[in-house]
Amino acid sequence: MALFNEVGVVGAGAMGRGIAQIAAQAGSRVLIVDNQPGAARAALETIEAQWARMEEKGKLTAGQRADLASRLVAADRIEDLANSDLVIEAVVERLDVKRELFAALEGVVRPDAVLATNTSSLSVTAIGAALAHPARFAGYHFFNPVPLMKVVEVVAGFRTEPAVSERLAAYAQEMGHAAVRAQDTPGFIVNHAGRGYGTEALRIVGEGVADFATVDRILKDQAGFRLGPFELMDLTAIDVSHPVMESIYHQYYEEPRFRPSVITAQRLAAGVLGRKSGEGFYRYADGAAQVPA
Ligand code: NAI
Repeated sequence: MALFNEVGVVGAGAMGRGIAQIAAQAGSRVLIVDNQPGAARAALETIEAQWARMEEKGKLTAGQRADLASRLVAADRIEDLANSDLVIEAVVERLDVKRELFAALEGVVRPDAVLATNTSSLSVTAIGAALAHPARFAGYHFFNPVPLMKVVEVVAGFRTEPAVSERLAAYAQEMGHAAVRAQDTPGFIVNHAGRGYGTEALRIVGEGVADFATVDRILKDQAGFRLGPFELMDLTAIDVSHPVMESIYHQYYEEPRFRPSVITAQRLAAGVLGRKSGEGFYRYADGAAQVPA
């Protein structure tokens, strides 16, 4: 039996889907909820399609796939999470929305349920301050795409009980992920270190040193990165990564090295978001990335 028998995932977007998939694969019953009608069901279908592909490749038997599907449920409302042992939030990156959601969740879940946020850049302590019992709350920051990026940052807020972080780290292992402990500081480890990668790459392009495709190519070919910074921004989506850059910049008291770029601000305003909008720094017409003419 999984460490958390029933897991609720709130937010059925890119991250919620991935988290729900690996939580089910760890043996948990998983309920996925979203406030957009049809979103939870769409997430369920995407995850089931992943399992179908895994069966085709011989990574799952038909029986295992049926078992997984039987434990994944599209729920209608957060009230359906009353029996969840762990609830992982992966909704929009806004402090007010997350705080409101956790305050509501606290009125739904059992007193011993663990609550976790997948926030990339907000303060875990600030989100937890909305709770009457912040000791059971922690950051649980996964990476995109979740099933492939096998690491998760476990972030203790000011009031997080150490046993809660321990349990989340142990459950990460059940999901096949390595847990890394991080302090609750802006960007934790990866989005702090990764700022240099993204913001400097934007500066190189902004200053006309090289174009973005060249920056991507050289960092992949010569520095061994799997994705160039612009490919990564397209994957993450500009409506996620630009606000993350802004948030980290402000939380470090406008430290110049974290300053976001007008290049991503403009793309955000234009709705040129990356893979999910079909066009970002690259175009994704036929699935493959193409440099815009
Ligand atoms: P997304 O935009 O793909 O999905 C968010 C989902 O949450 C949407 O389906 C939306 O309808 C739903 N939602 C919004 N408010 C809600 C509410 N109050 N109640 C229920 N559902 C609600 O976003 P994505 O990329 O999945 O990001 C989610 C969280 O994960 C954010 O906090 C983001 O910073 C974080 N994150 C994102 C990463 C990425 O690469 N995209 C990586 C790591 C963390």
